[in-house]
Amino acid sequence: MSATALYTDLSSYYDLMCADINYREQSDYVRRLHQLFGNQGTDYLDLACGTGPHIRHFIDFGFTANGVDLNQPMLDIAQLRCPEAQFTQQDMCELKTASQLDLISCFLYSIHYNQSIATLTKCIANIHAALKPGGIFCFNAVDKNTIDNRAGIKRNLQQDNSDFCFQSNWYYCGTGEQQELQLSIQKTNNGVTEYWRDQHTMVALSFQQLQELLEPYFEVYVLAHDYEKIMPWQNGSGNAFFVGIKRG
Ligand SMILES: C[S@@+](CC[C@H](N)C(=O)[O-])C[C@H]1O[C@@H](n2cnc3c(N)ncnc32)[C@H](O)[C@@H]1O
Repeated sequence: MSATALYTDLSSYYDLMCADINYREQSDYVRRLHQLFGNQGTDYLDLACGTGPHIRHFIDFGFTANGVDLNQPMLDIAQLRCPEAQFTQQDMCELKTASQLDLISCFLYSIHYNQSIATLTKCIANIHAALKPGGIFCFNAVDKNTIDNRAGIKRNLQQDNSDFCFQSNWYYCGTGEQQELQLSIQKTNNGVTEYWRDQHTMVALSFQQLQELLEPYFEVYVLAHDYEKIMPWQNGSGNAFFVGIKRG
């Protein structure tokens, strides 16, 4: 099994693991950012779209919404959820689109799936090229300097007579440009427990570095990581929501 089994062999458990996420609230937040900062167009692309929950909401908001993801099993689920959308299997750092978009998003810290600062830089340039004039790019990120290796999230859920325990945490060793997302899934059915562990290598950087990478391509706004209110980010919080308005 691969080190990112959650997106391949275990993709059918992904939505269960994310059952507590309020996808409508997140989608509505980005729709409001687009109203505030964007060009009012309705061509939308979600990068690292996973099983397509945000795309479903954007279609329902009236957008023409499509998705890109690296892993086909995730896209297969997304296509069932959003038959109206087109899904393309691509590595986001090599992003190429058939036509330009008004809004590109990347949720759940997935921008960090770029493996290095070099690939993230390439990804940002390709996102810029994929946007129409006045188009915006919205995503959330974590600052490597604030990662607490001891903190994590644990969720216990039940489905089809099985008990599941999902755990996730960031790990950053303190140096270098890579961090890890460590995930574990425990499934117990009829007294038999199965256990899987994933380790996802991702790019690690500070918000200052991220802003410097974005600035040549975008007018950048760094916002508080709060889907209820649009407010500037306060120094000190390790999570933020970024909005980039296409330059040029
Ligand atoms: C944490 S999930 C987020 C899925 C979805 N955006 C959500 O909010 O539920 C991360 C997604 O990124 C995808 N992914 C990982 N590396 C990628 C890459 N280099 N390019 C595109 N997608 C990638 C995975 O397959 C997975 O679907």
